[in-house]
Amino acid sequence: MQSIIKSNNLNDDIRQILSNIKFDKLFILTDEHTINLCLPLLSQVDMINNANKIVISSNDSNKTLENLSHIWKQLTENGATRHSLLINLGGGMITDIGGFASATFKRGIKYINIPTTLLGAVDAAVGGKTGINFEGFKNEIGAFYPAKHVLISSHFFSTLNKNDILSGYAEMIKHSLISNNEEWQELLKLDIENIDYEWLNDALFRSVSIKEDIVKKDPFEHNIRKALNLGHTIGHAFESFALDNNKPVLHGYAVAWGMIPELYLSHKLCNFPKDKLQETVRFIHSNYGYMSISCDDYNQLYEIMRHDKKNANSSAINFTLLSDIGEIIIDQVIDEELIYQSLDFYRDSVGL
Ligand SMILES: NC(=O)c1ccc[n+]([C@@H]2O[C@H](COP(=O)([O-])OP(=O)(O)OC[C@H]3O[C@@H](n4cnc5c(N)ncnc54)[C@H](O)[C@@H]3O)[C@@H](O)[C@H]2O)c1
Ligand SMILES: [Zn+2]
Repeated sequence: MQSIIKSNNLNDDIRQILSNIKFDKLFILTDEHTINLCLPLLSQVDMINNANKIVISSNDSNKTLENLSHIWKQLTENGATRHSLLINLGGGMITDIGGFASATFKRGIKYINIPTTLLGAVDAAVGGKTGINFEGFKNEIGAFYPAKHVLISSHFFSTLNKNDILSGYAEMIKHSLISNNEEWQELLKLDIENIDYEWLNDALFRSVSIKEDIVKKDPFEHNIRKALNLGHTIGHAFESFALDNNKPVLHGYAVAWGMIPELYLSHKLCNFPKDKLQETVRFIHSNYGYMSISCDDYNQLYEIMRHDKKNANSSAINFTLLSDIGEIIIDQVIDEELIYQSLDFYRDSVGL
């Protein structure tokens, strides 16, 4: 199981971690932004300064086989062995591809994730899912291969823009919904124009613990880990739909919008309380705006949902729903008509 370190002193904590792991060579994977914006924050650690750097282009569109192969090549050319260590310093794109490179290089080397985006810290870097996109399908090739350590620090977030903060925050809202009422109420207090970073840091650490507890109970997603898929069945469809139409949206935004119809389904089928539905919808609409869809798009969205990895077969679309905050109901198969109705609700809610 991976250890998750909620760090208040980055350089000291990294030094300590590195001194407790046996390895021969150290490699650091960054993207073109995190090498300049984030690596300097670790400059007090000699081992990091002397490590081999591997740099790839940024963003999800570069989570490709070509870049995976580039990482393998850099490891090979610079003498990596089975006993080498890789540090992934970046957002979810870097921790996903770097984690998968670690899973596959010489049948698996140790790695550490240092997430530098809120989405990475609260979600992507934690829990052992690694992979790349392939043939237009997101995360099509991958492995469960947890990092040895995940070092989480909000120090990196000052250079993130508002949209990237909100993208990660959507996963925190999701964690609160599958956890407890107090957490959900606390998170709805966010003032995005005037972020209190100390408050965000505490909320982040609590949020990571929620995910950590769930993953510990069910690392391979046979049952309770499916709770983390709340908002993601329709959210992924929104995300792929936007990508197909050349208007990509951030993952967390798609999840936030996906939670609107999925909480509606929770209300309809499991009696999720109406006032909590309305409050969550209001929060999402006012912070995330909306993605424009019309009823002519429903069929395309439905087809995308049918191809989701989470389905047992392509005619049964699998949802995680809630009967209340923290009351999780997994493996709900929902028919086409009701899904369309939930999309109507989404459009009504955001004024389309
Ligand atoms: N493995 C999982 O469980 C899991 C879960 C959720 C998402 N993901 C994956 O995570 C990826 C999305 O993650 P993301 O939103 O972190 O995206 P990302 O890694 O693409 O980063 C977004 C952008 O922010 C930049 N950036 C990173 N850190 C920065 C910083 N501190 N300051 C300024 N800019 C910075 C990056 O260079 C990039 O341009 C997707 O590929 C998604 O599939 C994986
Ligand atoms: Zn997600």
